[in-house]
Amino acid sequence: MGNSYIPSSVRLERIEEETDDTRTFFFDRKIDSRPGQFLEVSVLGYGEAPISINSSADENLRLTIRSVGNVTGAVHRMKPGDEMGIRGPFGRGWPLDEMEGKNLLIVAGGIGLAPLRAAILDIIRSRERYGNVALFYGARSPELIIHKKELGEWAKEMDVKVTVDVCDEYRKDICSAWKGDVGVVTTLFDKYRIPEDSTAFVCGPPVMMKFATKELLKRGFTMDRIYVSLERHMKCGMGMCGHCQIGGRYVCKDGPVFSVAEFVKWAEKPEEMEGVL
Ligand SMILES: Cc1cc2nc3c(=O)[nH]c(=O)nc-3n(C[C@H](O)[C@H](O)[C@H](O)COP(=O)(O)OP(=O)(O)OC[C@H]3O[C@@H](n4cnc5c(N)ncnc54)[C@H](O)[C@@H]3O)c2cc1C
Ligand code: FES
Repeated sequence: MGNSYIPSSVRLERIEEETDDTRTFFFDRKIDSRPGQFLEVSVLGYGEAPISINSSADENLRLTIRSVGNVTGAVHRMKPGDEMGIRGPFGRGWPLDEMEGKNLLIVAGGIGLAPLRAAILDIIRSRERYGNVALFYGARSPELIIHKKELGEWAKEMDVKVTVDVCDEYRKDICSAWKGDVGVVTTLFDKYRIPEDSTAFVCGPPVMMKFATKELLKRGFTMDRIYVSLERHMKCGMGMCGHCQIGGRYVCKDGPVFSVAEFVKWAEKPEEMEGVL
């Protein structure tokens, strides 16, 4: 086994725009990973950032990255042919093996659809292994929806509902063409049928995960049937430095995917609950 502190290099092949500040980057090789795992991505002179693996096992590596700072900004300035470093894959992903025969509700907000893409493709590839599957996806406005083309494809295999927070006068040009729902993603819980006795996979901004969790609990979901993928400040990515520690656990190694039941047991302080309850 190689040294997990030493990055290996990947070459960028092409880039697809998702939104104004978010792009999907396609690289030259496959990574042996499970849906929901992440990489530590490094650009020489800028540092490292944890980024979820967007590709399924049979695709070359792809990463969907929003430009928010140092490293992600440097990745956005890369051109096809440029190389960057990766370490990993790290972490525990979505518990798909435990979902065999079960119904699933996937709830995503904004760029939170990116860490769920590999799980969605795995489910579609072995569709017969699962019961009813619904994907509820919310974005702030139509132009902020990512993986737009694929959403239509996925709708052939599962119940896909997409909503936007706002479509008002101010956004008339964009919103006149919008045919989906309007309202935050949790409003879909009352508008559409949630597969019976389903397990929920939730990923999005902390405030969205918090409200989605609360609303699911109100609708009879138990904490062990709600999984969230958490974002915390990370350095090593593999349980060595303690940066991402919550209670006695490490988000990088023991997560980033946790059931709410596990999380509630481990979290010791109210601020550690951010993005969960
Ligand atoms: C497991 C995991 C998976 C993730 N997956 C993805 C993914 O798939 N795609 C994706 O785009 N992101 C993902 N992220 C988030 C990403 O890692 C962070 O956004 C990361 O901080 C980006 O690094 P950066 O160097 O570009 O940004 P930074 O330079 O670290 O900046 C990040 C944010 O912090 C603010 N900031 C920076 N320095 C300061 C300061 N001194 N004071 C106040 N604010 C400051 C910036 O304004 C910015 O809003 C993931 C995170 C985790 C933990
Ligand atoms: S990032 Fe170092 S322990 Fe999690």
